[in-house]
Amino acid sequence: MDAMVVTGGCRLQGRVRAGGAKNAALPIMAASLLADGPMCLKNVPDLADIRTMMRLLAKLGVESERRPNGDLVLESRNARRNLAPYDIMRTMRAGICVLGPLLARRGRAEVSLPGGCAIGDRPVDLHLKGLRALGARLDIRHGYIVGSAPGARTGKRLRGAEMYLGGPFGSSVTGTANVLMAAVLAKGQTVIECAACEPEVQDLARVLIKMGAKIHGIGSPCLVVEGVDRLVGVPHTVIPDRIEAGTLLVAGAATGGDVTVEGARSSDLFALVHVLREAGARVERFDDTIRIRARRRLKSVDVTTLPFPGFPTDLQAQMMALLAVADGISIITEKIFPDRFMHIAELNRMGARIRKEGNAAVVHGTRRLSGAPVMAGDLRASAALVIAGLIAEGKTTISRIYHLDRGYERIERKLAALGATIKRIKER
Ligand code: EPZ
Repeated sequence: MDAMVVTGGCRLQGRVRAGGAKNAALPIMAASLLADGPMCLKNVPDLADIRTMMRLLAKLGVESERRPNGDLVLESRNARRNLAPYDIMRTMRAGICVLGPLLARRGRAEVSLPGGCAIGDRPVDLHLKGLRALGARLDIRHGYIVGSAPGARTGKRLRGAEMYLGGPFGSSVTGTANVLMAAVLAKGQTVIECAACEPEVQDLARVLIKMGAKIHGIGSPCLVVEGVDRLVGVPHTVIPDRIEAGTLLVAGAATGGDVTVEGARSSDLFALVHVLREAGARVERFDDTIRIRARRRLKSVDVTTLPFPGFPTDLQAQMMALLAVADGISIITEKIFPDRFMHIAELNRMGARIRKEGNAAVVHGTRRLSGAPVMAGDLRASAALVIAGLIAEGKTTISRIYHLDRGYERIERKLAALGATIKRIKER
């Protein structure tokens, strides 16, 4: 297993580019199940989760190939395979995004429930609610969602419906994606109220429109879909990864650096920019580039995660690492995944003073962290530990970085190019 060794104490400086958005690419890859003909996707990052989705789609009869120029080409060829097995689904929750397309296009699906993970329970009731509203019959059998469209044998389809997709924590990103992908081929009109507005959902809607779908209200909490009979494969360039861009910006600010991130669309990162400014960083925004400078020790600031355009839960852990050394007390409230605080114990091992209080963390800023061997149980927590390692005195070894590799393509190279002392090692 690989580990990352970070030696802290340097200011990050320079220019870096964020890659394509993993969380946009994954549902868009699933949309290839809906298309006649090949989809050619550009700006798809080379990540473990993307390769897992390729393996899952292969099980469902979708051939995919990474071209030498980096393009990812996917084409659905065998429409009789409808089983998404547990051994793949348990490693990547986004696999659930094949459920809607399978029901809409093939009329049948057997998709393993993905199970919980380090950040919480992660139910899929909203996915099921939306698909049932479209007429799908869905049962849970032996850990699988077993579903069919009405009259699947006679070639009938899902039918449009009005639905409310809000849950106890607001909208659902992959839930909206799943239901949207089912609705585009349903008969008649679908209205999804409390749809997720995240940029990744917007990107999916845009590619579906290119494929021939009729969708109104993109980026708003009310999506209106007029079902069509057929969708075709199209070329598409995936949006840049706002979470990778945000992570690099937070790393720049946390080290008192001067970092310019390309592929950082300020419309996607509004909440982060606001919070970093409040903490005392200088942030300049250009079209798809953001520059951050932080010369002095940053100030404490309160952060609450919320669905887009609120502060993203996927940047909460990284922000906590930054605030661990800020001047004053910060309260970080997690309103999406109330248990997403696994990183607190590890940050405290590095000398941070953070206390969990229900769904909030009270962060007493200290002047310094000290390097330590640490380990994270999820992707963004691992990124937070890398940032903590950059700030800390001495050496930090972060184990189990396969989590990091699920969401960041060669992050050590990007950080090293900004002046970080970081290397990947093999751990016994
Ligand atoms: C997506 O997960 C992202 N994953 C997550 O990124 C991200 O943290 C999350 O959205 C929130 O922004 C992908 O896009 C592949 P949700 P998703 O459904 O869709 C509750 C990362 O680090 N809920 O929007 O699974 C749920 O428990 C990952 O890249 C229900 O109650 O998240 C949570 O409290 C981790 N019932 C809230 O809604 C449901 O049926 C939002 O979850 C579905 C969700």
